[in-house]
Amino acid sequence: MGALELASRFTMAPLAGYTNLPFRLVVRSLGGLGLATTDLVNGRALLTGSRKTLDLIETCPEDRPYAVQIYGGRPPELADAARFLVEKIGGGLASIDINMGCPVNKVTKGGGGSAMLCQITSAVELVRAVVEAVPVPVTVKMRLGWDASQITAPHLAREFEEAGVAGLTIHGRTREQGFSGSVDIEGIRRVVQAVRRIPVLGNGDVRNLTDAARMLGETGCAGIALGRGALLNPWIFHHLQRWDTTGDPGVPPTYLRRLDFMRDHFAQLVRLRDERFACLTFRKMAAWYCRMLRPGREIQQEMVMLHSVSHFDSLCEQMRPALEERDTHPWHETQVPLNLPSGPIAHW
Ligand SMILES: Cc1cc2nc3c(=O)[nH]c(=O)nc-3n(C[C@H](O)[C@H](O)[C@H](O)COP(=O)(O)O)c2cc1C
Repeated sequence: MGALELASRFTMAPLAGYTNLPFRLVVRSLGGLGLATTDLVNGRALLTGSRKTLDLIETCPEDRPYAVQIYGGRPPELADAARFLVEKIGGGLASIDINMGCPVNKVTKGGGGSAMLCQITSAVELVRAVVEAVPVPVTVKMRLGWDASQITAPHLAREFEEAGVAGLTIHGRTREQGFSGSVDIEGIRRVVQAVRRIPVLGNGDVRNLTDAARMLGETGCAGIALGRGALLNPWIFHHLQRWDTTGDPGVPPTYLRRLDFMRDHFAQLVRLRDERFACLTFRKMAAWYCRMLRPGREIQQEMVMLHSVSHFDSLCEQMRPALEERDTHPWHETQVPLNLPSGPIAHW
């Protein structure tokens, strides 16, 4: 992407509330991840120095390559936010991503996120302002359009390329769709075909090798950004990268290895923040880990009420015997439940 060369074409799509520094670090430790991006960050809040916003861009030398995703509706402000990031993070900042896909009202009412998909001139002006403000590659992540009657992404993609973006990620849904229905592969293909040289990453519903092969094969995209698939299976980058380079994805991790991963994640949360933050974050993550580990209803109910490190440790010990027993049987991909929560993002 521009001057940025990625070691893998599989990147982590931002998931607000999940893809924070602790999660990025544990997933990176498994290998295969080409680039990870922060949750979306309000450009104006960065400039006012909001503590919560600065927490969102927290990084460290092991968190590389690292991109920050920003949003906003005003070009000079977003350009200033981009300059602020370059100054603050320096060489650790691989790229800046502009969010033009977020459907949440809080983001669109200020003209940012997916609201930009309806305003071609403003969107291009915004992108140009950021590209011209900073020396690092600038990318855009967007949806196909506002709704089925306004599919603006192919046109925008061409305009953004002219404005100097280094790459694009396209989520194959409209704003109106939210997260419902399935991803529009043909829509992504049109965006891939609309640009001349820049890489386009396909995004949406990729949870396994079959989905990835379809996304790459049918859209011609240069790579894939994975969001929820990484929550379900944090090894997915490792397997995809191995498959991409050798043809063999390798063996899936055992249940005990998955349990250890969850423990590592929790330990990072405690280490980088504190016990309270770790417990609150984990309550939200619990549903995803329980899909992966299937520890039973009782433990799952405890996990969503997690209150301390010792509570977490005790739940892990309770899970262990069943996981050990399950590891004595061969593991099949079909054992990973593929159903994902649906409905408005506010419910996630
Ligand atoms: C809980 C949640 C939070 C999200 N937060 C962001 C975000 O901060 N920035 C962004 O560009 N997209 C965000 N997305 C969209 C994802 O990056 C991605 O485009 C979408 O989930 C489809 O990809 P997937 O099927 O691989 O998850 C979010 C999605 C979910 C479910």
